[in-house]
Amino acid sequence: MPEFQTSPGMRDILPPESARWRQFVTVFASVVEAAGYGQVISPLLEDLGVFQRIGDATDVVTKEMYDFVDKGGRHIALRPELTASVCRAFVQHRPLTPWKVWYAGSQFRYEKPQRGRYRQFDQVGIEVLGADDPNLDVEVIALGWEFYRALGLRRVTLRLNSLGEPDDRARYVAALRDYFESHREELSTDSQATLDKNALRVLDSKRAGDAEIIAGAPRIAEFYSDAAAAHFAAVCAGLETIGIPFTIDDTLVRGLDYYRHTTFEYQGGTLDSAQNALGGGGRYDGLVESLGGPPTHGIGFALGLDRTLIACDDEGVFPPAPPVLDAFVVDTTGGAEALRLTTELRAAGLTADRAYENRSMKAQMRVADRSGAAIAVIIGSNELAEDAVTVRPLRNDDGQQTIARSTLIDYLKKARP
Ligand code: HAM
Repeated sequence: MPEFQTSPGMRDILPPESARWRQFVTVFASVVEAAGYGQVISPLLEDLGVFQRIGDATDVVTKEMYDFVDKGGRHIALRPELTASVCRAFVQHRPLTPWKVWYAGSQFRYEKPQRGRYRQFDQVGIEVLGADDPNLDVEVIALGWEFYRALGLRRVTLRLNSLGEPDDRARYVAALRDYFESHREELSTDSQATLDKNALRVLDSKRAGDAEIIAGAPRIAEFYSDAAAAHFAAVCAGLETIGIPFTIDDTLVRGLDYYRHTTFEYQGGTLDSAQNALGGGGRYDGLVESLGGPPTHGIGFALGLDRTLIACDDEGVFPPAPPVLDAFVVDTTGGAEALRLTTELRAAGLTADRAYENRSMKAQMRVADRSGAAIAVIIGSNELAEDAVTVRPLRNDDGQQTIARSTLIDYLKKARP
């Protein structure tokens, strides 16, 4: 075993899988840019305080943060998510609202690694700051849905809930706490510990023994103000109008504390239940203010790239694209011709690779076969003397032929699918 390997929960993404990651982001960008979202690229590191504003009742902040003091004495954290960073950027730059942005990149959480759960993982996401319109909630939810469709996923389901206004939520949490306290002994030890920190998160428990107690708990809908109920009804109606199927799940509380009103999660059909949230989001109307900005409405989602690709593999969709090379140059005359030819072909807009180290014809052809190229372009001493090349198709049974070197670019362009 080599001395150095990736740390637990961190992975190398190698070709051809890495090309699929880039394609994933390209598809996402095309879906959201078509709806007016611009990309924001923010630092991997922020002051620890930025993420502490997410709330101190969430594991992401209290247990899973990668934080350290830098050489300048600043307490820094590797970002565990991007919503807080985007809100920090909004407060810092004061862009015009509604500010519609998208992002892609790595996040860091010190979690217990397992399939679909890593310590470095990637997300794509969108955030909109400065608008309260329920139609915007519908737009945001629909864009995530549309993206999964664009990948070809068919087994994703959408769960929807509203946590009401902050006051509604606070009254609900108090009622929940009373209820769970009166059943404390019947809850699992883990849920008893959760109850001490955040009664709402007990609803999130996937432990079998807790299910019955949770089923008897007060429901959030009983605590909605008129405004919160109207907002949620408008979101549901909007989704119905554009034909996006959803299930209302009033135990959906999500892992982060900043949510108010609409929350939602996209679930995959194939992963274990603890990892089957492919993405999620909601409204976080107080976050900008807590970072020192003006009262500002906010809504967005983040979708996990790693988990979504696992779901794609499980559903057999969005496969890694095979390498695309128009030509592989095999030069048995020393290698200088391969250098000239690949340079010419690439300058003409073709994709071309070559063999190195002047190896035997047989050895070079083996590399050509492995390369995925459509055609091997062979130069031996005869070809060189006659200013010709031999072209040998590698992906079909067409025979090889020798053609004038000046016609090669045309030949390769015509051979493209
Ligand atoms: P989140 O639910 O913490 O939300 O993460 C969103 C998605 O990131 C998850 O559904 C999952 O697919 C992926 N994810 C999270 N943790 C891991 C992990 N350890 N390994 C692999 N994938 C993971 C947020 O991050 C919020 N910022 C979403 C949001 C945006 N809310 C409003 N705007």
